[in-house]
Amino acid sequence: MEIRFEKVNFQYSGLTDTTHALKGVDLKIEGTGEFIAVVGHTGSGKSTLVQLMNGLLVPNSGVVNVFGFRLPAKRNQKINELRQEVGLVFQFPEYQLFEETVLKDIMFGPKNFKKTKVNAEERALEAAKLVGLDDNILKSSPFRISGGQMRRAAIAGILAMDPKVLVLDEPTRGLDPQGRREMMDLFKEIHEKTNKTIILITHDMDLVSEYAKRVIVLSDGLITFDGTKEELFEKEDFKDYHLSEPQTIKILKYLEEEIGLKFKEKYTYDSLLEYIVEGEHE
Ligand SMILES: Nc1ncnc2c1ncn2[C@@H]1O[C@H](COP(=O)(O)OP(=O)(O)O)[C@@H](O)[C@H]1O
Ligand SMILES: [Mg+2]
Repeated sequence: MEIRFEKVNFQYSGLTDTTHALKGVDLKIEGTGEFIAVVGHTGSGKSTLVQLMNGLLVPNSGVVNVFGFRLPAKRNQKINELRQEVGLVFQFPEYQLFEETVLKDIMFGPKNFKKTKVNAEERALEAAKLVGLDDNILKSSPFRISGGQMRRAAIAGILAMDPKVLVLDEPTRGLDPQGRREMMDLFKEIHEKTNKTIILITHDMDLVSEYAKRVIVLSDGLITFDGTKEELFEKEDFKDYHLSEPQTIKILKYLEEEIGLKFKEKYTYDSLLEYIVEGEHE
């Protein structure tokens, strides 16, 4: 089961000019096991792309197929069911909290939208555990917990729906480096524990090198690169994408070129740390 885009064009109505937010996009994303970063400059179409994946937007031409659900939708298709399969976490998800207690907030989705009856509380507790929220926090008002916990609660609310794919639109915006790392480690853990496909929109190339497996680069509504992060960072014409080079790569490249060191795993801090701590120094 997969998400497929075929020659997808999308244009926001009401725009005075005729530029398309997405132009002829072809794309295939597996429903499990992928960790994809979507990168590109502001206005390149990243948010538009992910909103087409869960029916918030519908293509002007071409077809989006999400796990057998077709957009534009056929008359008998229920868009709510699609929304459950693709969990979208927006920037500042904590603004979406509104219930009396954290637990009620996390339960809201499974309680109100699940087609088949599920035990909403059970689901919520499972999701809370997955994002690392303690039981005592679940009884608090979502407005009395820390910013980081609010963000986790909002993400748990989406996970409680058990979506196939988790889409994160700049989820680390406004976080300090430690908060950013904790948030990303959480997504990595969710990915490893559940094998759910994760699609991460980010400006931060350090996060791409550290966490992603596959990278999709958007430029003016076109996909200009789609492949593994290794392929992207090793491209001769990488500079032409106008993406910044991750810090780890700068350091590792320097060590390779200047000192002749060789690294097994080129892109992560762990690889660098391993060398510093355990490497054979001459
Ligand atoms: N709600 C909207 N109404 C009109 N134009 C929009 C709207 N949202 C985005 N756009 C335009 O569509 C293009 C792609 O935007 P977007 O998908 O938000 O890019 P990104 O997420 O990469 O910054 C941009 O030119 C942007 O100005
Ligand atoms: Mg955006």
